[in-house]
Amino acid sequence: MFSKKLLNNASYYLLWYAKDKDKTKYNQLFIAKDEQWFADNVGSHLWIENPENGESRKVTPEERGNIKELLQNLPNCKLYGTWSLNAQGTEKQKDYTYKGIPYFPPKGTQWKTSYPEGLDRLRDINRLQVEGNNLRFKIYFEDYPVMPQNNLWDKIGAASNKVFVVQTPEEIVKRCVLMTSQPGELVIDITCGGGTSAYVCEEWGRRWITCDTSRVSITVAKQRLMAAGFDYYELAHPEEGVSSGFKYMTVPHVTVRSIANNPEIKAGMKRDQIEAAIRKYADQETLYDQPVPDRNRARVSGPFTVEAVPAPVVRPLHEIPEHGGPGTVQAADQAVARSGETARQRDWRDELLKTGIRGKGGQRIQFSRVEPLPGTRWLHADAETKVEKPERVVVSFGPEHGPLDQRQVPLALEEAQTLVPRPRLVIFAAFEFDPEAAKDIDETNWPGVTLLKAKMNADLLTDDLKKKRASNDSFWLVGQPDVELRHLTSGQDKDKWQVEVRGFDYFNTRTGELVSGGTANIAMWLLDTDYDGRSLYPRQVFFPLADDKGGWARLARTLKAEIDEDAIEQYRGTVSLPFEMGSQKRVAVKIVDDRGIESLKVIRAE
Ligand SMILES: C[S@@+](CC[C@H](N)C(=O)[O-])C[C@H]1O[C@@H](n2cnc3c(N)ncnc32)[C@H](O)[C@@H]1O
Repeated sequence: MFSKKLLNNASYYLLWYAKDKDKTKYNQLFIAKDEQWFADNVGSHLWIENPENGESRKVTPEERGNIKELLQNLPNCKLYGTWSLNAQGTEKQKDYTYKGIPYFPPKGTQWKTSYPEGLDRLRDINRLQVEGNNLRFKIYFEDYPVMPQNNLWDKIGAASNKVFVVQTPEEIVKRCVLMTSQPGELVIDITCGGGTSAYVCEEWGRRWITCDTSRVSITVAKQRLMAAGFDYYELAHPEEGVSSGFKYMTVPHVTVRSIANNPEIKAGMKRDQIEAAIRKYADQETLYDQPVPDRNRARVSGPFTVEAVPAPVVRPLHEIPEHGGPGTVQAADQAVARSGETARQRDWRDELLKTGIRGKGGQRIQFSRVEPLPGTRWLHADAETKVEKPERVVVSFGPEHGPLDQRQVPLALEEAQTLVPRPRLVIFAAFEFDPEAAKDIDETNWPGVTLLKAKMNADLLTDDLKKKRASNDSFWLVGQPDVELRHLTSGQDKDKWQVEVRGFDYFNTRTGELVSGGTANIAMWLLDTDYDGRSLYPRQVFFPLADDKGGWARLARTLKAEIDEDAIEQYRGTVSLPFEMGSQKRVAVKIVDDRGIESLKVIRAE
């Protein structure tokens, strides 16, 4: 790899793996040629012809340098190149007389076409050209106006309209997807980032799966997909759906053989009849990147789900017997030790001491000491705040590979209640919180003691990343969503329900109190009006921070004719549209703030 000081490094490598090369699917992609490209490639064999009188002449080297100008000066003329009519072999090594002069294939070669019928056919439709002592074949620019895409992908700039810092240009992902898959097939990208792969797959009718360790990435990708609008492409067989493929544009690929062997070409045909016969008989190249659009229809992203991995804990804690045998506490402890979780907790304690916990607006809870707490199972750290009047803090860490489970909350609190002196703060720190656990932490009322949630940065799972990390944001305080569910008792929406998001409550590290943070930092919120307790199915989605170009407004611009502008405006607010209560009699509101931190509030209809 060259540094900036030495030779500039202008290329990247894309690796393409296949389990079995012979079974690998491949759609050849093509690049449109232009006349200059044609001229550059044909080189000194380039001619220009006036179709009206059939006269032609060679293009000079100077003219070849600026083909655009040449064609402007000779607007009705056509460019053609000449190709050799000879191939290796000796079988058809015979004289062919053209315009009274005999031509003989050079030593060791023979005529490429059938002899003499093929050559006669080329002669009859004026596709032969004498150049020097050779008889050659005339190939027009229109005969093959594309060229196969090879493995040098140049002229691809950086991603435009970036939503993610390290976003891959769509063109690269598009080529990979089009080259190696058919509509309806499944594509996985395990490093989602800004969701370019998912976006490109939506556009090109592929199904997709993507994942990322970063909450910011998932938030950005979700928003990008939800606000996207695409062309509608005509299906090859509409009754079979998208997996039947699209209708694609095609281009002819005229070759010497396709003309010489074309039985429809007869002497005495008119020029346009000849052209039609040539095009009909020539191979057609499918342009997989040019499906036929239906301009009367538009498309948005199909439905997709967002899953939090790892999945909830399978084995309830109370089912683990206290003593003896497999599945006992000892066995569970050993499993924990084996998984390295204890070692991780040591790292997390060190990190907590080093970086503290980041709160709102640059606030930070800092610690003068963070130590293990002997004799407790669900409290993993005993700490003291670094302020004038230090206070005792205990921390309960969630698991390394799972969300903090609801059962951990009472177990940790039970232990905290036995501590002397009593802690002032009980902090639950985890990579993810089970929604019910989060609710219990938010709603527990223990006078004099504040319970907080701190979200842990996924980088803490990767030591190598951690050492290089510049930021100190390993732990963030998670606000409590302040959400109201109300029953409408009058007006045209009488008996419907409505939700209002008032923002995040957060812990003010200076005053030690929970205060309301307002709605200013809510990037997105989603409402499930019939929450089943497991998966959140957003029936209304709001982007309060979106400007005129972002969120739904972006989609509205694409789909102008079909979207209600007033509704778009409402979806920028913090009050839901009135809705019928679902059969679960429970709603869920997920709020994502501008840092990408999510929190879920589940409310029962009273
Ligand atoms: C270069 S970005 C991908 C950019 C993406 N192709 C786009 O166009 O936006 C790499 C992504 O991989 C994610 N990542 C890093 N390690 C990961 C892991 N072990 N599992 C899943 N995602 C990971 C990062 O969080 C980051 O979002």
